[in-house]
Amino acid sequence: MEELRSIQWFPGHMTRTKRKIQSQLKLIDAVAILLDARIPYSSCNPDLRSLINNKPRIVLLNKCDMADPAETKKWLTLFRQKNIAAIALDCKSGKGLNAFIPTVKNVLSEKIENWNSKGMTGRTIKVMVVGIPNVGKSSFINRMSKQNRAKVEDRPGVTRGNQWFTIGKGFDLLDTPGVLWPKFDDPVVGEKLAFIGSVKDEILDTEHLSGRLLEYLRDNHISALCARYKLNENDIIDLQGYEILEMIGRKRGMLISGGEINTERAAATVLDEFRNATLGKLTIDRAEDNTDVRI
Ligand code: G4P
Repeated sequence: MEELRSIQWFPGHMTRTKRKIQSQLKLIDAVAILLDARIPYSSCNPDLRSLINNKPRIVLLNKCDMADPAETKKWLTLFRQKNIAAIALDCKSGKGLNAFIPTVKNVLSEKIENWNSKGMTGRTIKVMVVGIPNVGKSSFINRMSKQNRAKVEDRPGVTRGNQWFTIGKGFDLLDTPGVLWPKFDDPVVGEKLAFIGSVKDEILDTEHLSGRLLEYLRDNHISALCARYKLNENDIIDLQGYEILEMIGRKRGMLISGGEINTERAAATVLDEFRNATLGKLTIDRAEDNTDVRI
């Protein structure tokens, strides 16, 4: 998508974030990488792998309440095949959160044994939480620290301003120091991020975006699309996205004076309904198309 390619994501901030993440790595034992379960590939910042180097990692597929459960299963299998621990989460309801601490402990089992053998039993496990904006980092940290809201900012050796949270006895989380912007260099990735609402709509042409979304849905999830907007599959097969948008606007009675279709309103409706899963639990990055998980 041309317009997405031209977005400048404040490279200065990104450089600062990378530097901050790297400077904190020595203080932590593992990295928890939050991805959006609907786009586990596109929501992963591709610089992360080199950034966190060899730190043990745990993938958290968040918002799984809005993703296709069968696809989430395939993604979990793919990560596990690559020896990366992965769990599915729904931070809205709290589903899956109980698995987090045991999974981290499992990933760090050798290290923990090593600590124990050196008499450092009960040493605090420290995990950095990373992910692109809006993926659910605050929701995750809030949920995890619910029982133990202690927020620790001034730790010896830790720069002031870092956000540490105690989530259990001997277990701390560090919020990403800075903002890990997504990457839009691949236009397909940029478009998927825009579909799920990771790009502010104010800087996008929403009619164009929803037209592209409708074409994507027509090509990949036609029954969900037709069921929601009472469309006939044969009627939309050869249409451009914009024409499908007009059809939806007409059917919904979204008209402006003079009888013209209010495509702006129709676009907002389509995007909203896709983003809040009214159209169904749809995963738009498929595990079988993305064998390189970028982590
Ligand atoms: P961030 O820190 O990574 O930027 O993300 P944040 O936790 O602020 O979450 C971004 C939005 O995603 C929030 O919605 C949050 O409620 C929602 N969210 C987080 N985790 C999940 C999940 O597992 N499932 C679903 N369905 N939504 C989730 P919001 O509209 O910005 O705010 P609000 O609805 O909480 O008021």
